[in-house]
Amino acid sequence: MIPLPTNSEILADSDAVARAAAERLTALCAAAPDRPIAVCLSGGSTPKRLYALLAGPDYRGALPWARLHWFFGDERHVPWDDAASNVRMVRDAFADAPIPPGNLHGIPANGSLAEDTAAYEAALKAFYGAAALDRNRPLFDLVLLGLGEDGHTASLFPGRAAVDESRAWVAPVPEAGLAPFVPRITLTFPALASAYSVLVLVTGEAKRTPLQRLAEGEDLPAARITGPVTWLLDRAASDT
Ligand code: 6PG
Repeated sequence: MIPLPTNSEILADSDAVARAAAERLTALCAAAPDRPIAVCLSGGSTPKRLYALLAGPDYRGALPWARLHWFFGDERHVPWDDAASNVRMVRDAFADAPIPPGNLHGIPANGSLAEDTAAYEAALKAFYGAAALDRNRPLFDLVLLGLGEDGHTASLFPGRAAVDESRAWVAPVPEAGLAPFVPRITLTFPALASAYSVLVLVTGEAKRTPLQRLAEGEDLPAARITGPVTWLLDRAASDT
C-alpha cells in the first residue's frame, strides 16, 4: 500500500468515489440554502462519472440547479466544440441536467491565450465581487481536482511558471506538459485553495505512480494543493 496524502479516503471503486463527491456537494448545497453555490470543475476523464451521476436520478432532484454555478479549474485553449475541450466534456457528461445557460462559466477560447486568461480572471472577480481573495470568504464552495500521471493538477504541470503564480487567479500555459499538447488556461493555486472544500478525485492503477512520488516527497504540482482538501481514492489507485 502506498503511503497516502493526509485526509485521504479510500473507496471501493470509481463509482464509489463519484458518489462520495456527489454526497459532499449535496451537503454543501444543503448547508447554504439561500445563496449561489460555486463549483470549480475538473477536466479530464475521471470526473465524467461524477457529472453524469449528478445529472442522473440519484442526485438530480437533490441539487438546487438554479443557484448552482459551474466554473472550470482549467481548459484546453480550443473551441468549445473541440473533442479536447473541457466545456464539451462537461456538457456531454451533464447531458440534460437543468443547468441555466448563464450558470455554466466556461473558460473562453475565442481570443488570444492572454486575452482569454484575462477575461476569465475578470469573470471570476465579477462573480466573487472583489479583486482580492478574502480567506474568510472563499471563492468556491467546492473545487474538484484530478491528478495527472506526471503529478500535475488542473493545468499546473511540472516546471511550468503557472505552478509558482501566487497573485493572479488565472494563468496561461502555452505548452502543456501532457497530452493534449495544446495551450491551456488554468486557475492558480491561490484560486484553487479558496474553497470551503477541495476534493481530489484519483482512480485507477495508473495513478499509483504519481501517488508514490507524492508520498516520497517530490515537489510535484499536486503536492501544492492546499485548502480544506480531501483526497478521494479508489482501491486501484491506492493499491489496497
Ligand atoms: C484536464 C484536467 C487535468 C486532469 C488530470 C487527470 O484538463 O485534463 O483538468 O488536470 O484532472 O490530467 O486526468 P484524468 O482524469 O483523465 O486521469
